[in-house]
Amino acid sequence: MIRLKNDREIAGIRESCRLLSQLLGEVKNIVREGITTKDIDAFVRSRCRELGAKPAFLGYDGYPAAICTSPNDTVIHGIPNKRKLRSGDILSLDCGLDYEGFFSDAAFTLPIGQVSAENRLLMQVTRECLELAVEKAVCGNRVSDISKAVYARAKKHRFGVVRQFCGHGVGFSQHEEPQIPNYPSPGPSPRLKPGMVLAIEPMINAGGDDVEVLEDDWTVVTGDGSFSAHFEHTLAIFADHTEILTAW
Ligand code: MF3
Ligand code: CO
Repeated sequence: MIRLKNDREIAGIRESCRLLSQLLGEVKNIVREGITTKDIDAFVRSRCRELGAKPAFLGYDGYPAAICTSPNDTVIHGIPNKRKLRSGDILSLDCGLDYEGFFSDAAFTLPIGQVSAENRLLMQVTRECLELAVEKAVCGNRVSDISKAVYARAKKHRFGVVRQFCGHGVGFSQHEEPQIPNYPSPGPSPRLKPGMVLAIEPMINAGGDDVEVLEDDWTVVTGDGSFSAHFEHTLAIFADHTEILTAW
């Protein structure tokens, strides 16, 4: 069942998204060569305390950190660790907040130092996948219109589109219906209605579509070792417009 949100509830989710955007903006400013992903996690935990919001990922299904930090061939769900970031890395950061019971979700991929032209293209195209998907996320369209937009943009560059993980509804909890695949899938697809709050999140690989989960049961890496990028926004559907609730 897709849980629609009323204006008061959307206002709460908007506030959660605003705090998340502020936090991610600050994170962006501290990320550089030489710092570790554990340092980023520590920063997020301490800022969450100050902002009065809970890091929604911490403890989710036992996830051990406040933010997902996914370098290079890690697609999503990378666990912060003590490896120092190096020039040439790309780093995907994914975070969500629980602010007074209202959940937000956003992600982006950052270049560290000097990054190859190929990786800059991967990040740019993944970002465009999200932007094109957001344009299709309007009342009256279907979830499948979002999926097709992501897929078409990525495949124009013959990039891999991750199939094992999807976007999703969000707001009252971290993951709600509907699922939002990043590829066209057969069968009925829900129509977008006023009051839907959605997290759209293309995960795009420079190589093939395939991914694997590591021994830690969290870290998702590309099957072929190619690099991967991830961009995500939370947005709210209204009858006459769509509001992007997160920002980076
Ligand atoms: N950020 C993921 C998503 O966008 C959820 C992370 S789950 C966690 O859906 F357990 F890693 F926190
Ligand atoms: Co998400």
